[in-house]
Amino acid sequence: MNNTTFNFKVNIHPTKKEFKQMGTLPREIFRRTAEARFSALDRDYIKRKFEEERFPVTGNRLMSNYLLRYLRDNPSLKSKKEILLLDIGSAGGALSTLFAIDALDKAGLLTQARILLVDVANNALKATVEGNFTLPPKFIKANKLGRFGSNGGRLRGILAKQAKYFCADTVSLPKEIRNVDICISGFTHHHLNLADKKLACGEMERVTRLGGFVGIADESLAYRDYLAWLKFHAEEKNSSGMPVPIAQECFIALSKHVALFKRLEARWKNRGREYYCFAGVKK
Ligand SMILES: C[S@@+](CC[C@H](N)C(=O)[O-])C[C@H]1O[C@@H](n2cnc3c(N)ncnc32)[C@H](O)[C@@H]1O
Repeated sequence: MNNTTFNFKVNIHPTKKEFKQMGTLPREIFRRTAEARFSALDRDYIKRKFEEERFPVTGNRLMSNYLLRYLRDNPSLKSKKEILLLDIGSAGGALSTLFAIDALDKAGLLTQARILLVDVANNALKATVEGNFTLPPKFIKANKLGRFGSNGGRLRGILAKQAKYFCADTVSLPKEIRNVDICISGFTHHHLNLADKKLACGEMERVTRLGGFVGIADESLAYRDYLAWLKFHAEEKNSSGMPVPIAQECFIALSKHVALFKRLEARWKNRGREYYCFAGVKK
């Protein structure tokens, strides 16, 4: 995208009516503002999520617990030569990717895993694959990731060796991506308008093999909580002091999100105040 023509502004003081209508805003405002935000958020993304906003950590951790249950329920995966994990929306040291690696490791399947990462923000995506992000020792300890090293060094090594990235849009995944065993998307669908959420769920189903795992964690804020979130992030700066712009968001309820999938047997669901998570098997 050409940043010189970027002039989309997110309404950071929406009325309740405007809040309810966010899902009908054009695709372009979502894409351009997401790309701008996640390109500006730098190596401290995880540190911030861990220190300031616990729910992305909690939601992604829950999705990885569901994944581990699925892996343990499917012992035949052990005999597969290769297990394909696709994480959509995986920029900036993605919590979704790291926790999925953790689940694969716990299930004894990590060496067979090939990791495909998709995002619209190219530099941030590259940072995930190159391990260019901070993993605070407190985060490692709190999430029982110590076996990957106190600064997560082994996680970086796994990403460097086993991951490949595609700068692409979740509504139209690259044709090389197919027959995926595990397809996850953590805290990404709230960056899509309503029509695109449906397309994105359809794409996740399309690229996943029959019997494969599909998992979603997503943000879902009530009006007052969204206003508080906007206020808290209005002056956000990255670790170099550069401003981090707000991205357009739009939330739907857990039941509506599940209903956007036509071929998902949703086996696990849970909801917190600011997020939910669900996962299941493609039928
Ligand atoms: C809140 S971050 C979540 C990152 C990671 N999954 C995690 O949970 O830590 C949302 C990510 O979705 C990406 N994203 C937004 N819109 C997208 C789209 N249409 N297609 C692919 N990725 C998108 C953003 O660039 C960003 O990296």
